[in-house]
Amino acid sequence: MELYHKSTCHFLGKLIIALTWGILCLRAAECIEYEALSCRKHTALLTDFGGKGDGKTSNTEAFRKAIHELSKFATDGGAQLIVPPGKWLTGPFNLTSKFTLYIHQDAVLLVSQDEAEWDLIPPLPSYGIGRDNPGPRFISFIFGTNLTDVVITGGNGTIDGQGQLWWTKFRQGQMKNTRPYMIEIMFSDHVQISNLTLINSPSWNVHPIYSSFVIINGLTILAPFHAPNTDGIDPDSCSNTRIEDCYIVSGDDCIAVKSGYDEYGIAFGMPTKHLIIRNLTCISPSSAVIALGSEMSGGIQDVRAENIGAIGSESGLRIKTAIGRGAYVKDVFVRGMTLQTMKYTFWITGDYGAHPDDHYDRKAIPVIQGINIKDTVAKNVTIAGKLAGIDGDTFNGICLSNVAIEMSQQANQLPWNCSNIKGVSSQVTPQPCALLPHKKIDCPFPTDTLPVDNIQFQTCAAATTMH
Ligand SMILES: *[C@@H]1O[C@H](CO)[C@@H](O)[C@H](O)[C@H]1NC(C)=O
Ligand SMILES: *[C@@H]1O[C@H](CO)[C@@H](O)[C@H](O)[C@H]1NC(C)=O
Ligand SMILES: *[C@@H]1O[C@H](CO)[C@@H](O)[C@H](O)[C@H]1NC(C)=O
Ligand SMILES: *[C@@H]1O[C@H](CO)[C@@H](O)[C@H](O)[C@H]1NC(C)=O
Ligand SMILES: *[C@@H]1O[C@H](CO)[C@@H](O)[C@H](O)[C@H]1NC(C)=O
Ligand SMILES: *[C@@H]1O[C@H](CO)[C@@H](O)[C@H](O)[C@H]1NC(C)=O
Ligand SMILES: *[C@@H]1O[C@H](CO)[C@@H](O)[C@H](O)[C@H]1NC(C)=O
Repeated sequence: MELYHKSTCHFLGKLIIALTWGILCLRAAECIEYEALSCRKHTALLTDFGGKGDGKTSNTEAFRKAIHELSKFATDGGAQLIVPPGKWLTGPFNLTSKFTLYIHQDAVLLVSQDEAEWDLIPPLPSYGIGRDNPGPRFISFIFGTNLTDVVITGGNGTIDGQGQLWWTKFRQGQMKNTRPYMIEIMFSDHVQISNLTLINSPSWNVHPIYSSFVIINGLTILAPFHAPNTDGIDPDSCSNTRIEDCYIVSGDDCIAVKSGYDEYGIAFGMPTKHLIIRNLTCISPSSAVIALGSEMSGGIQDVRAENIGAIGSESGLRIKTAIGRGAYVKDVFVRGMTLQTMKYTFWITGDYGAHPDDHYDRKAIPVIQGINIKDTVAKNVTIAGKLAGIDGDTFNGICLSNVAIEMSQQANQLPWNCSNIKGVSSQVTPQPCALLPHKKIDCPFPTDTLPVDNIQFQTCAAATTMH
């Protein structure tokens, strides 16, 4: 059986790069090109494994069988699975190494609402408990663990989480287990998630955890404002992560940087570090554009965010922590935020509360040190900054420079409210609180290049119909 159209498109791909690709790709009719960390030698279509894109037939077995078969090519150039145009109803499935899942621009994955299709897996070790309920959690829709070199991409193809049923059950207190996430990759390296539209996730959308060299770009993530916990992207205990060119409208934080929960996160001890966030556009009426925490018990260090745009969001940069979290948030650099209609521009909370259980260490005091924000414009803002450290635990090294905040006409509170913090400010309007005295300074932003920024994409190709 001609399952794997190995050579044609690969060969074509190379020619395409070398020559003008118009005529060639016309001749191949269904040849697509995309950018990825690595290209694959073998190609298969979901239909090769009995997939039916009619929006009704379950494709769970087709996906699982396809990936199981294609995993055999991991030591022979890897494989790509193409999801052709159509509506593909499916339950969750696991990815494999040296593998690409490509979702065609006219393909929609419809996520199964049938709980019986979802395996239960243990809580994350750095969290100790499930988020919705203490016990096990449903596996994520697209799940991968202990992988290397895995790509999930498409020509802006769609994954529809069909979350409504899960949101309702959650709100009515009917979830016995934690709701699934849309995409979760654990203990992996060289992971790419790009050029997809994710809508209506049951809960968080993209959750890379305990992983390194993670590149996330070109995602459009949409969820209704009322949809609970529909965070956009949650880099969690990851190092060297790059998030670029994403557009997120959601019912929770657009980006929430995390690293584990109280005593479980402290024991696991895996920080999120070397994180780049660029060219983000966010609308998040009830949450943050970029949040750090509240789960940060493995530590968060070296976050570099730039060119961030948001409208109609609750806060621009948010830090959430509490006694019991321990660890640190340090060396955070933000430049180039453009914000419109915000409740808070900056919001730092040292009393976030919310503990996994009552066994947290009352002496585990978080260290917040080196929060640098510059070149920011915010309009129609209710509170310029609420910056609250913890009694006996001053949040240090806060630096604001070249920040212009226009207060809304309805704003009747003092623009700044600061306590237990220490820092400086330069060219900031309205005039900051006394705990951020003026000092002539341009807050720092690192000039070195992180290893994840050196990763280059290759141009890959694949046929999307059978010959
Ligand atoms: C994503 O799509 C954009 C626009 O079509 C394209 O320029 C970019 O190369 C794609 N990126 C990847 C990683 O495929
Ligand atoms: C996917 O991986 C998880 C964790 O390793 C496992 O529990 C589950 O059974 C796997 N699912 C399938 C369909 O193989
Ligand atoms: C995955 O990697 C983690 C961390 O290295 C390890 O503890 C775990 O046993 C591995 N799991 C599997 C299924 O190999
Ligand atoms: C991807 O699709 C979404 C939803 O249809 C759309 O809003 C967005 O503009 C598209 N992105 C690109 C790069 O085409
Ligand atoms: C991302 O932002 C940089 C400037 O920070 C800009 O040069 C670049 O064009 C932007 N990319 C996109 C795709 O908007
Ligand atoms: C300003 O913000 C208020 C909410 O605080 C909103 O109702 C109003 O529409 C915004 N005005 C503009 C011009 O964006
Ligand atoms: C400032 O914040 C504290 C809590 O951190 C609150 O008790 C106080 O009322 C606030 N002050 C003003 C003027 O809003």
